[in-house]
Amino acid sequence: MTHQLTVWRAAQLLGVARGVLQQQVREGALALNDGLLGVDALLKLYPQAQLEESGLLERVAQIRDEAFGKRVRERMLPSQEVLAQRLFAQTQELADVRRHLQRYHGLVIALQKRARAGVLEHPGDSAWRDMEQQVTQGLAQALATESVDLLEVLDDMLKIRTAQVTVRPSGHQFLVEGHANLLQSGLHSGLRLNYGCGNGSCGMCKVRVIAGEVAQTQHSDYQLSETEKAQGYTLMCCNTAASSELTLELLEASGPEDIPEQQIVTHVRAVTTLAANTRMLHLQTPRTHRLRFLAGQSVRLGWTMPGQGDVHTTYPVASCPCDDRNLLFYIARDPADALALHLFADDIKPGEAITVLGPTGEFVLADGHRPLVFAACDNGFAPIKSLIEHALSLDAAPSLSLFWLATQSDGHFANNQCRAWSEALDQFEYELVTHADTVVGAQQIAQAMRADLFELDCDFYLAGPPEFVVTLRDELRSAGVAQAQIFAEIL
Ligand code: FES
Repeated sequence: MTHQLTVWRAAQLLGVARGVLQQQVREGALALNDGLLGVDALLKLYPQAQLEESGLLERVAQIRDEAFGKRVRERMLPSQEVLAQRLFAQTQELADVRRHLQRYHGLVIALQKRARAGVLEHPGDSAWRDMEQQVTQGLAQALATESVDLLEVLDDMLKIRTAQVTVRPSGHQFLVEGHANLLQSGLHSGLRLNYGCGNGSCGMCKVRVIAGEVAQTQHSDYQLSETEKAQGYTLMCCNTAASSELTLELLEASGPEDIPEQQIVTHVRAVTTLAANTRMLHLQTPRTHRLRFLAGQSVRLGWTMPGQGDVHTTYPVASCPCDDRNLLFYIARDPADALALHLFADDIKPGEAITVLGPTGEFVLADGHRPLVFAACDNGFAPIKSLIEHALSLDAAPSLSLFWLATQSDGHFANNQCRAWSEALDQFEYELVTHADTVVGAQQIAQAMRADLFELDCDFYLAGPPEFVVTLRDELRSAGVAQAQIFAEIL
């Protein structure tokens, strides 16, 4: 029987996006049996050359190299205790398989002896002769040495380095790498997990272990009851996967309505000038109070000017929910925005306290496996960037396309970020458009989309000023895109 892999592991081993493999399953190029892909079919689609290109072999060689930095080893490998537990489980599995094989071998040898005796006892009976021949030939075939499949070997090695977690009842899956705990790993994979402090004191990340083992990674002040312990409950933020497969029972947020409003006093980490009229505000939350939000959502920022009272403005978060301590905002110079005026006047400096209230907004990624198309105008890039980072974490879309209209010549203030995505990811492409007239720019983007994308069944995410969003939405609708596939945020 061919060796089988989960889609997650196959994507890792082959160095392709999970969304690409899922697309091939939907198109019939790959068959999925009980959520598993056959190695033979994978190797037909992705011959050996691509396996080497995935870089896994080089990374394995690097791990063996003593000179390789400790930090990188920590990022890639779990602790010695966790490695020992996973190795022990794998050795046990190997011993079980070997024991079974020995028993089957003994059984076949006994059958062969019996058949030979039958041939001697009944020389004229062809049934005994056929049976003896069949058993002898079958045994010879089974004992013949076959070349070892490299993909199978790498999969076994990957199981020690990286654990796979399956979530019930949603069926979502994520990988646990290096020293990361279950909460960090789940968030980095784009899951909408329930949690609070992130450091073992609130108990909100409590989950039930259905199958597999966990290992504690840090002390927790929150005490699970004896009943909870007996039922298998554990804290995601204080544990990692000790076995290579783990099944957890937990509830995930289904949408913005499941995310509670939070108020957090953060501190300014940095203010960076990105363009003449755009600055990036980097806020950091306390270690024990992080912001739980969904990609694409906004928060209200409040700052107190000594002697002059409070200023408040709502901005979309430009960073990924997986980095819940570091919140980024793109702030445009705007005479009607008091907080922006103080930021551009250099009144808001690193170390200042800024209150974050939220999150709000419904502009979040919908479930699904369609190609994703993002269109932003000016600072509409902020929620779009958060959505793109979230989509990359989920790794479920077969392709991502970005169209970004700037109404000023230096308006593509995150051009480097777009280039980095494009260079690192085969499935990402982008187009930058500059036009002072928002409506004309939106029409140009619609034309570019028609040329590239309209034969595809895509989900479209639009963010920017009203005239940009409305123009582009009308163009998409008149081109036949269903209303349910267009998601818009007017800023
Ligand atoms: S998030 Fe608070 S205990 Fe885990």
